[in-house]
Amino acid sequence: MLPQQMLDAVNRQINAEIYSAYLYLSMSSRFSVLGLPGGANWMRVQAQEEMSHAARFYDHLIERSGEVKLTAIEEPPADWPTALAMFEGALEHERKVTGMIDALADLALELKDHASHNMLQWFIAEQVEEEASADDMIQKLRLADGAPGGLFQLDNEMATRVFVPPTATT
Ligand code: FEO
Repeated sequence: MLPQQMLDAVNRQINAEIYSAYLYLSMSSRFSVLGLPGGANWMRVQAQEEMSHAARFYDHLIERSGEVKLTAIEEPPADWPTALAMFEGALEHERKVTGMIDALADLALELKDHASHNMLQWFIAEQVEEEASADDMIQKLRLADGAPGGLFQLDNEMATRVFVPPTATT
């Protein structure tokens, strides 16, 4: 049986994951405005990933006979001046999400909710990747700064990202 405290916390996390999708969609729109279609693609793919995270939490609640409660999604920012500012914002956001996932894992242990704790292991590993991919783009954008054609080349690289639906083990 899913403890009520965990049910409420996972419902809040579903909101946070959908907010993440909103945030990255907003960044995608901003990349388009800046004339960087590759960056817009990268962020659209990221938004899809976030919706898949929300779905994973959603499915966990359904499987445990818990009720999913959807709540209002906060408006994301939309005024980043540069690609670098966006990825810095993305890294800051992902660090915050990592803290939320860690707090969920702590709660699962406290409540002896081992099924939730087991489900959260996937997210703990995923957050390492989420932070690393934002940080990787920050490093590349810093290197591209001032290099002739650097941003154009990086935008072409970001255009190649595709969404791969995560499975139970990936
Ligand atoms: Fe769902 Fe980017 O963490």
